[in-house]
This record gives sequence, structure tokens and C-alpha cells, in this order.
Amino acid sequence: MLKGTFPLERFAGLQTPFYYYDTGLLQKTLDCVLEQVADRPSWQVHYAVKANHNPVILKQIAGAGLGADCVSGGEIQAALDAGFPPGSVVFAGVGKTDREIELGLEAGIGRFNVESAAELRVIAEIAAARGCIAPVSLRVNPDIGAHTLAGITTGMAENKFGIYHGAVAEVIKEALDTPSVSYRGLHFHIGSQILDMSDFAALCNRINDLCARLERMGIPVGDINVGGGLGIEYGHPNHLPIADFAAYFGTFKELLPEGYAVHFELGRSIVAPCGTLISRVLYVKEGVARRFAILDAGMNDLVRPAMYHASHRIENLSSDGPELPYDVVGPVCESSDVFGKGVVLNECRRRDIIAIRSAGAYGESMASRYNCRPFAPSVFPTESL
Ligand code: LLP
Repeated sequence: MLKGTFPLERFAGLQTPFYYYDTGLLQKTLDCVLEQVADRPSWQVHYAVKANHNPVILKQIAGAGLGADCVSGGEIQAALDAGFPPGSVVFAGVGKTDREIELGLEAGIGRFNVESAAELRVIAEIAAARGCIAPVSLRVNPDIGAHTLAGITTGMAENKFGIYHGAVAEVIKEALDTPSVSYRGLHFHIGSQILDMSDFAALCNRINDLCARLERMGIPVGDINVGGGLGIEYGHPNHLPIADFAAYFGTFKELLPEGYAVHFELGRSIVAPCGTLISRVLYVKEGVARRFAILDAGMNDLVRPAMYHASHRIENLSSDGPELPYDVVGPVCESSDVFGKGVVLNECRRRDIIAIRSAGAYGESMASRYNCRPFAPSVFPTESL
């Protein structure tokens, strides 16, 4: 079985579980993203901080020159602390608090991605009281489904996000008539872990229709933020360690008119492949018709399999024994604390080192202290420290 390359000798001396981040792979990924947009000077790629807010990771991404896409005051602060320029920060979310709006204005962030007319009025009021002008884009609900995990589509009319595409013209007019906000453009996002480029093509078509309609009405469009959502190959982290950025950006190059300044908000495709949750086997248990490998990492460290039935490739790094099927589970007191069922691994023994791959996105950032378990620390290649 082909496995990832890891510093096993170093791991042997470390307490598990921990997140290991391959910062070399992260750099290659960032270089690849920048190369794809090099011929479009008006395009800007933002990193969706929700995918991973580890300060070392944030610093590296800020250093590469990406902007930051934030969804809370905490994320804005983390982005600023990591060195993202305030003007490169965009702030989305259906429930921005007054305090978060004030923080955004105080810091001078580049854009509030406004999700409702009610929010627009509150931002306008707070900006007016401070004597400043808030830069706003309007998030449009494009009513487009993405072929992805059920829990993570966001662009359908039934989802809570954005202003319905048929109603957005009125809200743009209101923004244009409000002196304490400056209308800058439109924002979209249809979902996450999208591998079928026809979903992004459908988004482009919706954007083009809407822009044509607005232009006919004499309403300015401004710039266009197409959100994030590019998926990665969870089943093949060794063969396909970098997402298909050429196909992704190529879709927008082909289908959106060249004149628009286009913004992107990529999370998973940038950080998922570089992160691995490293744990040890505590016990091997022979159950009824199943064999369990019980790990010292649990659903509190990586909740995606329990929460979305998401599948991550699992490898036994310290064994080359015969391959056997295991139900790989954690120690948390919930039946859903399962990383995978019938996973084929090299024979497991107590203390074997297990890698749960592609865990750099929505792993550490969604961890909890359930069962009073501590947060798993992060470990980096020694040469990057
Ligand atoms: N922009 C907006 C407005 C978003 O809501 C999201 C993700 C992104 C950008 C970044 O999307 P990405 O490029 O990472 O797909 N916890 C789930 C994923 C939730 C995604 C939420 N929004 C998971 O573990 O699969």
C-alpha cells in the first residue's frame, strides 16, 4: 500500500494525537494557485480562514500574498495578527454582531459581504455613527445546488445565506442611496468539496444572467466574488496531493467576461492536503464479525467523519504486516466516533502510528474539548520552524 512520507523517527518521540502540517506541500499549493491567476492582475484569491486558523499556517498564507476571508471577529483578529493586510480582508456571515462590525470598520477591512437588507441597514447605522463609510458587497443566493455532501451546500434558496437573486437589485439601489456605505459588488458561494466543474459553470451562467439584468436596469455590478468550494481527492492524497486549480480557475476564465475584477475564497483546496492527524493505536479489539482499531484520536479532534460521513484515507505508518480490514474508532463515548469502517490497514498492533490524511481543512478548526479531552497540538517539519 502506497503511504505518505512522514518523519516517523521524530513522531516516535512525540505524544499523540497531533496535527502534522507539511508546510512544503502548502507552499507548492500556494505557488500553484498564484501561477494560475498570474495572467489576471485584477483577480484576487482570499484564503477562507474557517478551514484552518492555525497561526503558523495563516502566516505562511499571508506571506504568499493571499487575502483573508473571515466569518467572525475572532477570524478577523487572527488574520490581522498573522499579517494579512486589513484591505485584503473580506467579512461574510449571516449573523454579524455590532461588535464584529465595529471591529471590521476600526481595522479598515476591505469588504463586508452583506447577507440581508436588515444587515445592510445596521452596518450603515454603525458606520454613520462612527463617521466612516463601510465598503460593502451583497451576497447573492444564486439558488444553485452543488453535487457535494448534504450538510455543506449553501447556494440553494432553502439555505439561510445571501439575498435571493431575484431581489438583489432593490438592495443594491438601497446601498447606492445610503451615504455611509459604499457599494462595491456581488458575492456568491455555492458549497464546498465540489469536484464537478459544471457546478462552477452553472454559477458563472447565473452570474452572467444577473449582471446582464442589472446592466439593463442601469444598475452597476462592481466586482464579483465567486466564493470558494473547490474539492480535493480525499481518496488519493499520495497520487493527487494538489487540487485541480487549472480546471477550477480555467472554468471562470472561460465563462466570466474578462472585464470583471474577480475574487475567490478558497479554504479546503489550499490547506486540506497538507494536514494529517497522527495518532496511535491504543487497543486492537476482536468484535463480533469486526475488528476494531481503537485510536487515541477521536471525533473531538476530527469531527468530519462523524458529522458528514466524510471519508479520509487512513494509513498505518509503522507496520508493513498483512493487510486486514478494521473499523477505526476513537475513544470518545459516542457510537459515531468512527473514522472509517472496514478500512484496510497493515496489521495493527498497540502503539502503531496511524495517519488520518487530508485533515488540514476543517480538522483543527472544528476540534472541540468534548469529554474534557485536550486540543491536539500541531507539529511542523523541523526545517520550516
Ligand atoms: N466562502 C464562504 C462564504 C464559505 O461559506 C466557505 C465555506 C468558503 C468560502 C470556503 O469554502 P471551501 O473552499 O473550503 O470549500 N466544515 C465543512 C465545510 C464547510 C464549508 C463552509 N463554508 C467540511 O468539513 O467539509
